[in-house]
Amino acid sequence: MASKRARLGTLAVHGGDSANRTHAHVMPIYQSSTYRFDSVAHGQALWREEEDGYIYGRLSNPNVQATANTIAALEGLNLATRPFALMAGSGMAAISTLLAGLLRQGDILLSQQALYGATHTLLHDFVTRFGIVCGTFDGSDLDSLDHVLARHDGVRLVYIETPVNPTMALTDIRGVVERAHAAGALVVVDNTFASPYQQRPFELGADLVIHSTTKYLTGHGTVVGGVILTTDETLYHDHLLPALHIGGAVAGPMDAWLTGQGLKTFHLRMARHCDNGLAVARFLADHPAVAQVHYPGLESFPQYDLACRQMDAFGAMLSFELKGGYAAGEKMMDAVRLCTLAVSLGSADTLIAHPASMMHFKVPPEERARMGITDGMVRLSVGLEDVEDIIADLDQAMRAAQ
Ligand SMILES: Cc1ncc(COP(=O)(O)O)c(C=O)c1O
Repeated sequence: MASKRARLGTLAVHGGDSANRTHAHVMPIYQSSTYRFDSVAHGQALWREEEDGYIYGRLSNPNVQATANTIAALEGLNLATRPFALMAGSGMAAISTLLAGLLRQGDILLSQQALYGATHTLLHDFVTRFGIVCGTFDGSDLDSLDHVLARHDGVRLVYIETPVNPTMALTDIRGVVERAHAAGALVVVDNTFASPYQQRPFELGADLVIHSTTKYLTGHGTVVGGVILTTDETLYHDHLLPALHIGGAVAGPMDAWLTGQGLKTFHLRMARHCDNGLAVARFLADHPAVAQVHYPGLESFPQYDLACRQMDAFGAMLSFELKGGYAAGEKMMDAVRLCTLAVSLGSADTLIAHPASMMHFKVPPEERARMGITDGMVRLSVGLEDVEDIIADLDQAMRAAQ
């Protein structure tokens, strides 16, 4: 494990170096929408991909390329060859581009029932408008996937998110891959909550990975961005690249540069995030005001064994329920002083949020209940502060709420 961490650290710092073709120590920001050709012949050579270089900002940019290379290096840590990576303008842009590139009218897409709110809306309210059938299964129960696969012929894509936002329920990536591949389907994993520090889905057989780079990969709350990765060259060249270049949901140079800067401390931030997350989860689990804590690193977590099998570390995302239900949760969130009341996650500071009224507000209440999201659930993205201070703030806020 120690050597793996060391290699992850080196890749986080140097994974994008080859795209820096100047002598600047820190890669400059190439804030340019287009690139000069030396001659018509030079332009043609670039368009024909006979020469390396840049043409137009929607197609490529040095900062975007450097950051994509670093993320590919991290997700491909233990693979023989690096995956292909494409930066998008947001996590949702990454998912939309992936679906636009891979699906056609009449295709069948299966997804786990519990998903990030906007992904749920995208799959069930948007994608279905284009004649794509969208079935669901219970992500924490492989039998449920077996049943749904048996009912649908010719499934094209199986979409999972693990740990799931915000219930922290896990999906067995290897188990899903085995079943989906046997049925001829591709598997996409949203790895946003875990990050490649904790879990690398390609090592478990996944075909595609997406991230909201807004979160741990950037790490400082400065960017909205996304990335799509695949190990399959045909999917990359024939499906994803055209969907991004024609669909146009690309990342800008400044955002890619900020994510690249954030990535240089990725391994250090994640180590501290994981330590703080476990300490806060243990504190909450022992607190008299708390009814339940959802954190994969607690032995009491129903899928603790799976967490140990497919994750290297347990992260800093958790959710919990207060004994006083919604009213106590609302009072507590209004009473925090150090923690920030805000959506999003993976920033240096601790963020506290209320899924039912915020991130999952647009998901109908009965669907939220099916996903396991109660009205009293509080979500915490544990930050990098001294953990005693985070715990003291949560403790005073819970006392104030009683
Ligand atoms: C698990 C997950 N996937 C995707 C997204 C969408 O990312 P973005 O907000 O960058 O579009 C989010 C956003 O919170 C998320 O939590």
